[in-house]
Amino acid sequence: MSKLLAFNWKMNPATKEGVSILLDSIKTGLSRNSEADILVCPPYIFLDRVSTSNGFLIGSQDVSNQDSGALTGEISANMIKEFGCQYVIIGHSETRELRKLTNQDIQNKVRQVLLNDLVPILCIGYAEQEFDGDINFDELKEQILVGLNGVGELQNDQEIYIAYEPVWAIGSGKSASSAIILQVNEFIKKVLQETPGLKADKVKILYGGSVSDGNIEKLSKIENVDGFLVGGASLIPEKVTKMIELLV
Ligand code: PGA
Repeated sequence: MSKLLAFNWKMNPATKEGVSILLDSIKTGLSRNSEADILVCPPYIFLDRVSTSNGFLIGSQDVSNQDSGALTGEISANMIKEFGCQYVIIGHSETRELRKLTNQDIQNKVRQVLLNDLVPILCIGYAEQEFDGDINFDELKEQILVGLNGVGELQNDQEIYIAYEPVWAIGSGKSASSAIILQVNEFIKKVLQETPGLKADKVKILYGGSVSDGNIEKLSKIENVDGFLVGGASLIPEKVTKMIELLV
């Protein structure tokens, strides 16, 4: 398996035509690098359109921690599975902020995802908007320890992904340096070993935050990076094609 290249479209594109254009750019990329593992995470409303294409994996950007019920605006794991979803992004910093999610809320969602045989992508990253030179290891540790506490009992053969996404790097055009990513990934691996009831050998680590066609080659060389979660650049067709081409 190559590194996983996960596209998080967030609340984009605005139209069905926009979806087709992005899917075409992915197909072009795959025609140049058929080994690439691509995961597309569209808004729920476009899951149907995305699922009619093949050659890549499909994920959702969130999910309810309940099976069903009077929960206006929520979407269940079963519903997204109907559209071929295999992956679910959980606890993206934007979602944490918008929905005021606690780490315990995040753990409940991880459990729901694993119970439904889906693969969670747990996003972690300290909340600071600016990088002042210090990595907030305590916050990262808390997000992992609480977010994944005891979930191993629900983990069959599924992998769990952690996406390390420093908030200051998201959408800023300033990716974290290779040295920071390497250091944080080492730290994450250590915390995973300490997380009660987790199958740590089944956890992979993605990096996210201003990844684009201009830096993906360099970032791919970092040891311990199993792939990338990409926002802004996943909405620009030429960049999409190029990133897929450059992925190893
Ligand atoms: P970005 O977003 O690539 O635009 O920095 C990444 C993310 O939010 O997942």
